[in-house]
Amino acid sequence: MCSNRSRTTSAIEYRMRLTVLLFAASLVAAWSLLDYMPQNLLNLDVTSKWDSEPAFSALEDYIVDDKFSLLKLHRGLMEIESISGNEHKVALFLSDYLKKAGLSVELQHVERDRYNVYAYIGNQRNTTTVVSSHIDVVPPYIGYSVDGTKIRGRGACDDKGPLAAQVIAYLDLYYENKIKEGEVSLLFVVGEENTGVGMRTASEKLGVNWEYAIFGEPTENKLGVGHKGIFVFDIEVFGRAAHSGYPHLGVSATEILIPILHKIQNLELPESELLGPSIVNVGKVEAGVAANVIPAYAKATIAIRVSSDLDEVVRLVHSVVDDVEHVAPVTGRTTDPQYLDYKVPGFESIILAYNTDVPNLSLPLKKRFLYGPGTIHVAHSDDEHVENQDLLKSVDGYRRLVEYILSLENATE
Ligand SMILES: *[C@@H]1O[C@H](CO)[C@@H](O)[C@H](O)[C@H]1NC(C)=O
Ligand SMILES: *[C@@H]1O[C@H](CO)[C@@H](O)[C@H](O)[C@H]1NC(C)=O
Repeated sequence: MCSNRSRTTSAIEYRMRLTVLLFAASLVAAWSLLDYMPQNLLNLDVTSKWDSEPAFSALEDYIVDDKFSLLKLHRGLMEIESISGNEHKVALFLSDYLKKAGLSVELQHVERDRYNVYAYIGNQRNTTTVVSSHIDVVPPYIGYSVDGTKIRGRGACDDKGPLAAQVIAYLDLYYENKIKEGEVSLLFVVGEENTGVGMRTASEKLGVNWEYAIFGEPTENKLGVGHKGIFVFDIEVFGRAAHSGYPHLGVSATEILIPILHKIQNLELPESELLGPSIVNVGKVEAGVAANVIPAYAKATIAIRVSSDLDEVVRLVHSVVDDVEHVAPVTGRTTDPQYLDYKVPGFESIILAYNTDVPNLSLPLKKRFLYGPGTIHVAHSDDEHVENQDLLKSVDGYRRLVEYILSLENATE
């Protein structure tokens, strides 16, 4: 009994010490995190210092409820480097921002310290519509700057411009009482630029239900008609090395590979009226060791951007490769072409040639829209920027899209 009690006491003491220690550790962690945050941007006072910087005098802002500034949010997001894999800080920044705006916010764990941000009004997690964009960017990081009416830097249009405009449009509708609990939510995901793991985790594990989705990507403020799918695969040839003077002693891997590549480039691939032709790119070829050695090995990496009938494209590739001796069986990864909804009064449309997170949102949806400010022609480049007016215009675009969807829903009720 006695020894038992003393053990209990020391266990309590131990637990107390641990609590104090953990508390201290979390203080230190919170402190170092705050250190990284652009504090003036978390502080929602619109009259903070940089508003009067000369560079900003050329810019026009969109401010909701005297507090939520489009330019400030955009800058806050861009000043936090969030190259795919390193989205932790930007997720916390966004979550804090949305909480301050009065929304319910969940951080969804994806892996390691990577989190998606899910926000909605009140308690109803399921909403008719989800408005989404991605919080990761491609490398290298390029800092925020203003050049006349252009806002420059990594993420300016891909994807922090669309993201900021979505948040401001959402808050505007919310503060005007135009959206209610259960109608619209915000979802910001990690990893769109490489694996799509954020959106896949959201659709598989968030346990929610949506009927319409608005995706934010740079589409020049037009509605994306859709984008091509993709079939990426390797062709590997295993020959036998020999002296080039005695070719009958070897099997040349390049002599086998080259005619195959020729055939693949000349395949009659399916086309689509909406998305145009399917396009072959032999992106990488590796073979051989020297001019006087018959190459034992050759490999080509090929991407076909598929505008229609992915299965037929895969079948055609197999028909070229499958029966050739010395060639390894072809495997690869595929994504179907995506067809989006683009017929909305007051919007123009645009055909896109890039991949998005759209296929990774695997829930059955009634309609999917893709829309945002800026152009893909500068996204991922050193010249990434967005025009101030386009950013402003997209706030209105997102508002109108949400209102259009709500009107469809009310009409069917
Ligand atoms: C998910 O998104 C990534 C990145 O955009 C893309 O490469 C991948 O093909 C998508 N996955 C599926 C299953 O469509
Ligand atoms: C929300 O959607 C999920 C997934 O479809 C479902 O399991 C759940 O019951 C829904 N919740 C409510 C309150 O409707």
